Amino acid sequence: MPDRFIINGLGGKKKLSGSIEVKGAKNAALKALAASILFKDGIALKNVPDIEDVKRMNDILEEIGVSVIDEKRGKYTLTTPQKVKTDLPTDLAQRMRASIVLLGPLLSRFGAVSLPHPGGCVIGERPIDLFIDGFEKMGAQYFHDGKQHVFKAPKKTLHGATIVFKKPSVTATETLMMAATLAHGKTILKNSAQEPEIVALAEFLNACGAKISGAGTSTIEIIGSKSLRSGREVYQTPPDRIETGSFLILAALTGKKVEIKKCDPTHLEILTETLKHSGVHIDVEKDSILVSNPTSVKFQPTDVETREYPGFPTDLQAPMTIFLTQAHGQSHVFETIFEGRLAYVPDLIRMGARIDVCDPHRIIVHGPTALSGREVKSPDLRAGLAFVIATVIAKGQSVIHNVYNIDRGYERIEERLQAIGVNIERVT
Ligand code: UD1
Repeated sequence: MPDRFIINGLGGKKKLSGSIEVKGAKNAALKALAASILFKDGIALKNVPDIEDVKRMNDILEEIGVSVIDEKRGKYTLTTPQKVKTDLPTDLAQRMRASIVLLGPLLSRFGAVSLPHPGGCVIGERPIDLFIDGFEKMGAQYFHDGKQHVFKAPKKTLHGATIVFKKPSVTATETLMMAATLAHGKTILKNSAQEPEIVALAEFLNACGAKISGAGTSTIEIIGSKSLRSGREVYQTPPDRIETGSFLILAALTGKKVEIKKCDPTHLEILTETLKHSGVHIDVEKDSILVSNPTSVKFQPTDVETREYPGFPTDLQAPMTIFLTQAHGQSHVFETIFEGRLAYVPDLIRMGARIDVCDPHRIIVHGPTALSGREVKSPDLRAGLAFVIATVIAKGQSVIHNVYNIDRGYERIEERLQAIGVNIERVT
């Protein structure tokens, strides 16, 4: 039987205290691991979180021939040989959306790749048309053979191109940016995503000889080169901003005084501003955030609309909805990025929340409502952590099933939460 969490909730009391450390960002580390394919020599990474998705990415890399050495404590060394398999293993690649980022490095360095439609969280359709359009513009041929997406670069190299994304996509921006570092000539990516994970990747690639400018803005320019060498550069995984934001919301709802350490508050300004407007006491330092809660404070309702960075992250939409169930009044939540990201709402209603579902993108939350403990099943990785927050607020005992979905993105979450006073236990 898969693992589950048993949580004894605080029944609305604000009791948590102490400090909690943020781990390296899943969505940054996975791309840096994939980038190893671009390098003639080995690359070293630090602060990589010990999570299921990192294990799956390393499994795929090893399966195609990359040497992955786990140096322990979040350090890895990866070396790609002269030749690797360019067919991604179907079962592994289907388990993780981020497998799609291997497409760019493999195609630009080895001239071919075939992969199944990438899996991952069931939060919407998750097409790959932006990838197909982009790589065709860079000279690749594409077809679907009934099972796999197949890409081939004639003469084994891609050429530079101007690519205008019809919407900003994080993984499409990263994948094409990586591919362009080894393409012939100049590539311009317009309407790119601007997430901090893209900047971290570009800075590392530039430190290793790539010529990327504009990462973190909507237009990125890349001048391709023949090869990349990392030398002594080490990729330092930035702190996970989604984990930080989830801890911030948990602390606002259930903390007396909680310090969130080893984070980058500049990546979360939209959340801290939104929470401050609702009445949460937040003190921001360079790499930590302190949340303190006088018991008298009544949180104000607020409207939230998910947007690409620097807008409100879709990955924090579910945790934010939990916060809004405790605000005094009516809040609107508009999920603009994915159409399947409100799947957690029925369980939250069963816990006692008053939420009107308007359509697959919009809900109205009426607060405050006391929540009561229940058995729930984590529908996706981010909603999984939202359920942890909801069950900590709730009165009584809850069971969260399908903890694998939480382990995919958060390193030993129960141990870190226990340290600030959460009554949570993993049952294997
Ligand atoms: C990444 C993150 C995920 C986060 C999301 C949005 C990783 C591994 N995952 O996912 O945690 O929720 O960004 O911040 O980094 N789209 C297309 N065609 C495509 C690709 C995407 O239409 O070819 C659409 C998607 O359906 C979605 C929007 O673009 O509506 C944005 O998705 P995208 O940024 O690509 O999400 P991911 O990169 O998959």
